Amino acid sequence: ATHVALLTLMAFLCGACLGAVWVCRWRGLPDPRLRGSFNPGFSNVLRLYGKRLALATLLFDAGKAAPALWLAKASGLPAWAQGVVGLGVLLGHSYPVWHRWRGGKAVASAFGVLLMLTPTVALLCAACWALLAWRVRTAAIASLASALLAPLASVWLARDYVWVVIAFALLVVLRHVWNIQRLGRGEELSLQDAEFTRR
Ligand code: G3P
Repeated sequence: ATHVALLTLMAFLCGACLGAVWVCRWRGLPDPRLRGSFNPGFSNVLRLYGKRLALATLLFDAGKAAPALWLAKASGLPAWAQGVVGLGVLLGHSYPVWHRWRGGKAVASAFGVLLMLTPTVALLCAACWALLAWRVRTAAIASLASALLAPLASVWLARDYVWVVIAFALLVVLRHVWNIQRLGRGEELSLQDAEFTRR
């Protein structure tokens, strides 16, 4: 139990390093939490600063799950305990201790965790995200659809992780409440909002 708790704490602290904030700070650009959707994530960085920095954000946020999850797997923790460690990454990203608790929507970090736990489900969800984002140009729709797909795909492809994946999906949906309200009002920002996109 101590081992799981320590790894979850490590996961929480790694998760709390926000790729979007660090990448923009490194390039001397304003914090992405100040403009666009105000979200520190891949989609808002894409909207505000373009593809290269968005890709760097994605790699950072997906990659930060690797150390804690690798240790969890290497030490032979059961699936539920690996899931708890993974949840630590998502919670760290959503409520980041290093960034005044104002975090993101845990989509890229959930992808990173799933990549470590069940790569097939992760890649299926990534394909779903990319296809929808490309067709509808709305990140939140792509993320919410992927959050629904992940538990369904797990029932079929990764039984051991179904409950874990349901918890991830619930957190992602919870973090999108504001987007869901904006979608309902027809006010959701597109990925290429003319007001912000510099291209
Ligand atoms: O990945 C987050 C996405 O689902 C929503 O981002 O910036 O459009 O609120 P955003």
